[in-house]
Amino acid sequence: MTLEGKHILICISGGIAAYKINYLVRMLVKKGAEVQVLMTPSAENFVSKLTLSTLSKNSVYSEFSSADGTWNNHVEFALWADTILIAPCTANTLAKMVHGMCDNLVIATYMSAKSPVFIAPAMDLDMYQHPSTKQNLEMAEDFGHFIIPAENGELASGLEGEGRMAEPETIVEKIEDFFEGSDNPQSLGDKIVLITAGPTYEAIDPVRFIGNHSSGKMGFSLAEEAANRGAKVILISGPSAQKISHHNIELHKVTTAKEMFEKVFEYFETSDIAIASAAVADYAPKEVASEKIKKKEDSLTIELVKNPDILQTMGDRKTHQFLVGFALETQNEEDNAIGKLERKNLDMIVLNSLRDEGAGFQKDTNKVKIFSKNERVEFSLKSKKAVAIDILNFVQEQILK
Ligand SMILES: Cc1cc2nc3c(=O)[nH]c(=O)nc-3n(C[C@H](O)[C@H](O)[C@H](O)COP(=O)(O)O)c2cc1C
Repeated sequence: MTLEGKHILICISGGIAAYKINYLVRMLVKKGAEVQVLMTPSAENFVSKLTLSTLSKNSVYSEFSSADGTWNNHVEFALWADTILIAPCTANTLAKMVHGMCDNLVIATYMSAKSPVFIAPAMDLDMYQHPSTKQNLEMAEDFGHFIIPAENGELASGLEGEGRMAEPETIVEKIEDFFEGSDNPQSLGDKIVLITAGPTYEAIDPVRFIGNHSSGKMGFSLAEEAANRGAKVILISGPSAQKISHHNIELHKVTTAKEMFEKVFEYFETSDIAIASAAVADYAPKEVASEKIKKKEDSLTIELVKNPDILQTMGDRKTHQFLVGFALETQNEEDNAIGKLERKNLDMIVLNSLRDEGAGFQKDTNKVKIFSKNERVEFSLKSKKAVAIDILNFVQEQILK
């Protein structure tokens, strides 16, 4: 079971949805997780420590020290946790988290933690819509935390709308998804994994560029999965709205193919595994106009010049690295992919086809075939997270051969 033996630290803040946490704790314990509960002083108005400690089989704390004067060590709680869940997360606790206002046990623990953090906000309609809440949630997401969005429905105030804390089943599912595939969390523990993701943008003038539809989802899913397996991940991404979600991922943002090339070769030599999933522009405008190009003639010609071939150069310079390329083809797919595998001196290539429904750019799902020098495996349509698991399983099998 995914959650068997996992240390889950639940931090409850003072919202009416706190009553749902009793049920959530029970579900997690039934799934084999070890659960500890902390709460803010104001959460005590909403849910009882006695119930929570009975269900979690652990003492529940809300203050820095107990009645006998012993310290409820926030650093120990933080280091114990494989993941921290703040639920319900009030507007107040959220604001304190993102601004570092460390005036209670929950925030001190959160700020001492290295583990991934899940946040399940719960608020009344207008509070949830408030610009400060929206901005604070965005900041939390930028920190790499996972937001489990509030849902639509009847609110305790009697209003209807967005603000209800996600149901315990949904929260458990999100946590399970996170741990899924990481049953062997240290399987890449001694490896440095270099991953490229997203598109590149090649400027035409100060306002226009040549780009492509790559969202970066596949590369970010691979980075997350490699990090879950204990690897140190260097993720080099072109413009993408994706967010990193793991402290083992070092994100470097670039814009152009040339910038990606420079960054990749800062790290390639010391990498053990390199996965090139970025959709890099093959060509860039020869000249970038310094002013916006005005509409004048009926046609406009832009001269393009070849960008450096990042994957080919990795193949040429490869010493010990296991090198994985991606191919997105629209015709003679398998032949083209195998040709690329050989030509670019790759160890493995992942082929996805634009012809497959649900696969390719911007989608949350993908359907891939993987080729190594001697093997060919075809997978069904899956979430990009599940595809990342398949790809890394294949990489690990090949490395062990
Ligand atoms: C009955 C009641 C229900 C509340 N529900 C919420 C809520 O769902 N979300 C929220 O952000 N604040 C809610 N509040 C306000 C918080 O309890 C208040 O901001 C408190 O200071 C939060 O402290 P904490 O974040 O340290 O737990 C509620 C207050 C009351 C009295």
